Amino acid sequence: MAAAAGRSDCAAIVRLSTDPKFGDYQANGVMALAKKIKTNPRKLAEQVVSNLDIADICEPPEIAGPGFINLRLKSDFITGRLLQINADVENRLGIEKEAQPRTIVVDFSCPNIAKQMHVGHLRSTVIGDCICRMLEFLGHNVIRQNHIGDWGLQMGMVVQAIETACFNLTSNDKYLLSLLSENPQKWENESLKRIDLNLEQLESLYIKTNKALEIGHPDFEERIRRLLVGLQHGETGCLIFWSKARDITLKECQRMYNLLNVTLTGKDIRGESFYKDDLHEVVDKLLKSKIAEKSEGAVCVFPDGFKNKEGQRLPFIVQKSDSAYLYATTDLAAIRYRINELKADKIVYVTDARQKLHFEMLFATARMAKWVGDDIELSHVMFGSVLGDDGAPLKTRSGENVKLKELLDEAVERAKAVVEEKNPNLPADKKQKIAEAVGIGAVKYADYSNNRTSDYVFSFDKMLAMDGNTAPYMQYAYARIKSIERKAQTKDVDIATELAGLERLDLTELAELELAKYLIRYGEAIDAAVSDYRPNYLTAYLYELAQKFSAFYTNCPVLDAGPDKRPTRLLLCDLTARTIKHGLSELLGIEVVEQM
Ligand code: ARG
Repeated sequence: MAAAAGRSDCAAIVRLSTDPKFGDYQANGVMALAKKIKTNPRKLAEQVVSNLDIADICEPPEIAGPGFINLRLKSDFITGRLLQINADVENRLGIEKEAQPRTIVVDFSCPNIAKQMHVGHLRSTVIGDCICRMLEFLGHNVIRQNHIGDWGLQMGMVVQAIETACFNLTSNDKYLLSLLSENPQKWENESLKRIDLNLEQLESLYIKTNKALEIGHPDFEERIRRLLVGLQHGETGCLIFWSKARDITLKECQRMYNLLNVTLTGKDIRGESFYKDDLHEVVDKLLKSKIAEKSEGAVCVFPDGFKNKEGQRLPFIVQKSDSAYLYATTDLAAIRYRINELKADKIVYVTDARQKLHFEMLFATARMAKWVGDDIELSHVMFGSVLGDDGAPLKTRSGENVKLKELLDEAVERAKAVVEEKNPNLPADKKQKIAEAVGIGAVKYADYSNNRTSDYVFSFDKMLAMDGNTAPYMQYAYARIKSIERKAQTKDVDIATELAGLERLDLTELAELELAKYLIRYGEAIDAAVSDYRPNYLTAYLYELAQKFSAFYTNCPVLDAGPDKRPTRLLLCDLTARTIKHGLSELLGIEVVEQM
């Protein structure tokens, strides 16, 4: 469009038309350009149209108003695309892979050791997963990085918590008691072998340790500090306890990932501890290059443009005055690793919006240090909070963060009621399977369908509703098409044969045409969702697709249509089902069900 205007310095701005009167798409860029080069917009529009070479896609463009260019897709183009998608053996729904795939590191989920995942980790985990799935589908080389919080000051308490668990065991066991004084090394191994803590128990020991520390006893403080130093110096005893805590945590997190149908596995874990030996070098390099300076005993970077309310420079602290390294230091080391070792072209961080300043300063510092070249993109994909009914961040009655596991269990429990109502006669095991798909799907879908930068109110009733933009609605839309296929068998309609040799379509009804045009826009929806890392563009597309299907199905009989009409309609059903299934299960990681 810009080229047709003979310019490369203007935007084409081709939008979907808001009104079918104006065609399918509308190009609105002419007016701004005409103003810029001081010419008559309608004249310019005529010039653009005469230079456009889109006769195989659109009917002759029309110029409207001050210089809008209205474009209407040719029905040959629409049927051609549908037939092409039908013939696509790779099941990519006609969507091509990126010509220039990039290596993209996605940092997401990132739970912390000795803590159960809470509702705050839901968003990072599912949004990050969807971003990875979409990028991979488009052909990029995606490297998942689960930057778990497994290092830093709290680890002294983590070690103490596991040690306490071992002591608790020992107090009831003569053999362990004797080992404790005679062979401490063996005691460690033996007691560790026997403890069988789940994450919930570990967390509660950790909380107790934390509380004991808060009450403040100098001896206890000193002990925790010693354990931390021991761990930092690689003392075997401390390391063994620490890795036990890490294993317990990661095992439970993996269970959550599987439950959520999230693509993270053990090999994606590269936690903070991975960078522990690089932190010294990070600070050293920053000091040597004069990017960091000592300030009140701490080592700080003062990136340009960051000021507090009083107008003073804001520090990005990389080493505290007691020489401890921080979250920021580790993140700098991680950037270096991702660029130098993983060869990232882009790094995407998925965390809540409260970390906005951290990432802005991190990116600024890494660029100042020239660790990140201009050709490398760093993005902080942030999201708002999950709120309770009262509009405050979702908490339990006692004021704690809501555990993700409890949330998902309740969702499945409630989904059982939905299934029971829809389909009471299904066998119990089927009902259970559907309830799992619906319950987990509902929680994920609600998260996706909300604009990620806004907060949203968590409501089981809303997310499990059968109408509206919800997982159950989408899953039902899919199951309904599948039921048409089942019915076809009873009527001796062989769908596969009817679709296999299809060469000609008959799109005459308005609802057919609307659905057809919408189906070929799936790639646009994915592009929009990927380019701004916003899964809600994808859910919005799927929802509208289901609605267009509904309108079509209400107006156009499928199985009872005559032989001239039936193949076209069967194809529309098939492509709608395949698109919904692809969007839900491949890109959002939400299971579809054949029956509901
Ligand atoms: N563990 C952190 C948390 O729970 C999130 C880490 C995000 N990733 C990063 N590279 N800083 O808030």
